Amino acid sequence: MSLTILGIESSCDDTSAAVIRDEFLLSNVMSNQDVHMKYGGVVPELASRAHQQNILPVVDQALKMAGISAEDVDAIAFTRGPGLLGSLLVGTSFAKGLSIATGKPLIDVNHLQGHILSHFIKVPEREINVQPNFPYLSLLVSGGHTQITRVDSHLSFKLIGETIDDAVGEAFDKCAKIIGLGYPGGPMVDKLAQEGDKSAFKFAKPRVEGLNYSFSGVKTSLLYFLRDKISEDADFINRNKEDLCASFQHTLIEILMDKLCKASESTGIKEIAIAGGVSANSGLRERIISEGEKRGWITHIPELRFTTDNAAMIAIAGYYKYISGHTANNDIIPVSRSGDYS
Ligand code: KG4
Ligand code: ZN
Repeated sequence: MSLTILGIESSCDDTSAAVIRDEFLLSNVMSNQDVHMKYGGVVPELASRAHQQNILPVVDQALKMAGISAEDVDAIAFTRGPGLLGSLLVGTSFAKGLSIATGKPLIDVNHLQGHILSHFIKVPEREINVQPNFPYLSLLVSGGHTQITRVDSHLSFKLIGETIDDAVGEAFDKCAKIIGLGYPGGPMVDKLAQEGDKSAFKFAKPRVEGLNYSFSGVKTSLLYFLRDKISEDADFINRNKEDLCASFQHTLIEILMDKLCKASESTGIKEIAIAGGVSANSGLRERIISEGEKRGWITHIPELRFTTDNAAMIAIAGYYKYISGHTANNDIIPVSRSGDYS
């Protein structure tokens, strides 16, 4: 019997809804919020207000594009956390209301597990849908998280390394802000880096034990470097934008790869996947592929539309939870921090 899951994602600044039937994607609708651009970052109050405006049309469109109505759905998966509480509340409340109206069960999904499982989304238009074999290592790189997780099944995850301060996405966004590129910065740094020389400048790399990461030092290193340069030459940033982006991006990729290679060596796992917004980065994607070829890895690189926040990943994670017998009660509440949600 086929199983149809509606997914709803509202953890940060994108409102998204998707429909998945038996692992196959039927629709994935996303509404980005432009309202934050002029503030240089996500404003939580504005995000929840925009979610409230977007959620009904986005869910409606996802159902229409899938060619179904709410009654045809078997269960409703929604992001419970981590994320911005006000934003999560909109998606959670909407999912609860829809569950009451249709009598369909709810499935709460951890946003991070959604990113990690995004590789299991099957796309009908693809000739072959390759999925990771267990166990595999997931490098999750986003605006809020930087983690290496050992994935033993669709439902069992072991965190083996994570950032002790900033997330790598924050480092990208901060770099863009300092250079004056706007928000979100990652895609713009990526674009300029493609025209720059990655060995033009050197930035300090952190020394952190084990498989953990740190990105606050490299960010400060960029700040101090530019402060000194600007004091001698006010136009320094403008003339060196491309080289600055290429060198800074290169440093971040080196830091990420260093611990990922260590994790593969220490666990003996050569099946490697990347996920999250920063996995859209062209330099990181190329590097994972080339390093993988050298090291005999089987690498899994997500399609660009599944890297940043999307509801398809929430629907697929919900699918696996549902077939294992998990549903949520209607009194469930969102959680903002990852530590509060296993
Ligand atoms: O996964 P995501 O959409 O949201 C969170 O869960 O945080 O990740 C957003 C992050 C932002 O920091 C954004 O700058 C970064 O992903 N990002 C990129 C690229 N596209 C998005 N960073 C580097 N290169 C990109 N092409
Ligand atoms: Zn995310």
